[in-house]
Amino acid sequence: MQLKDEIDFQELLKNPVRLFGLTYVYFLVVAGFIGTYYIWSMNDVSKNTIAPVILRDSTQFVQDIPMQRGALIAPVNVTEVGRTSKVLVDKGANLFQANCSSCHGNNGMGDGLSAAAMTVKPRNFHSAEGWKNGRKVSNMYKTLQEGIVLNGMQAFNYLPAEDRFAIIHYVRTFATDFPVDSLSELQDLEKVYNLSKGTQLPPQIPVKLAMQNLQNEAASDAKYVENVCSSIATKKQEEQGAMLAKRFSANSNKMITASLATKDVSLDVFIRTVSTDPITIGFKSAVVRLSREEWSSLYAYLSKVSKEKKS
Ligand code: HEC
Repeated sequence: MQLKDEIDFQELLKNPVRLFGLTYVYFLVVAGFIGTYYIWSMNDVSKNTIAPVILRDSTQFVQDIPMQRGALIAPVNVTEVGRTSKVLVDKGANLFQANCSSCHGNNGMGDGLSAAAMTVKPRNFHSAEGWKNGRKVSNMYKTLQEGIVLNGMQAFNYLPAEDRFAIIHYVRTFATDFPVDSLSELQDLEKVYNLSKGTQLPPQIPVKLAMQNLQNEAASDAKYVENVCSSIATKKQEEQGAMLAKRFSANSNKMITASLATKDVSLDVFIRTVSTDPITIGFKSAVVRLSREEWSSLYAYLSKVSKEKKS
């Protein structure tokens, strides 16, 4: 067997077009690398075909609970308001327009003005489809009591119970096939929500406001603690001052008389006056070796004593 060079350069020189075939793979690989590098070094924004929405503040998506006065929800007789009547439906129609139509639409089609922006669409009351809690009076009462808050159906637990029944009876005029509650289902409402006793609604304030109040309280607590600390510190200082006064007095009468004059002078003047001639004004001469902090305690004590003496 005869070995042959893989690349016969003499052949190549005679027929240079073949060079292209050999370098083809090489160029392909290089082009591949350049392409990868280009895409790799692009930033995320240019990789997107859809312009990104830049959210600076996610808090705008959090719905805070509304400010609400505490209220007594008037008691109702569930077997009365649980059954429809013209009076209730008329009342409900007005309440529906005021409270529900913005989402559920004027005619309960689920096409209110706010509906367009909502991901979970408000219920269309003309259709039996998609109901979560159900279409009976008792089911809808639960919906109004608790809301389906995560999906944008708020709770209306602050409406008087009778108003809620009125709205429900009005909603039930949008279709003819609403299922009817049995008496015991209505009476269960009584058991669960104590309708005949009424409900005391606690006042509620938005979380933001509550936090603010807490902060204010914390601030005033801090202020209080600060005051206590500083009065303890003052006490400490007075005690130290009293001790120093005792230790460094040569003639306490003289000292007190002299310090009567210190009432309105500054600490520095006091230190200078006493250090210049301690003995004459009743101090021991060692007083000049006090640290500034000790001077300050002594000064505080003596000015207190002199104030008490004067008054
Ligand atoms: C802010 C918009 C909004 C308002 C205001 C609103 N709703 Fe809704 N409601 C919704 C949405 C959204 C749904 C659908 C929730 C879901 O499918 O999870 C819904 C669902 C319902 C349902 C169906 C519950 C179920 O079992 O699936 C009832 C009943 C209802 N609303 C009644 C009312 C009544 C009555 C009012 C007025 C007192 C009202 N809603 C006000 C948004 C709203």
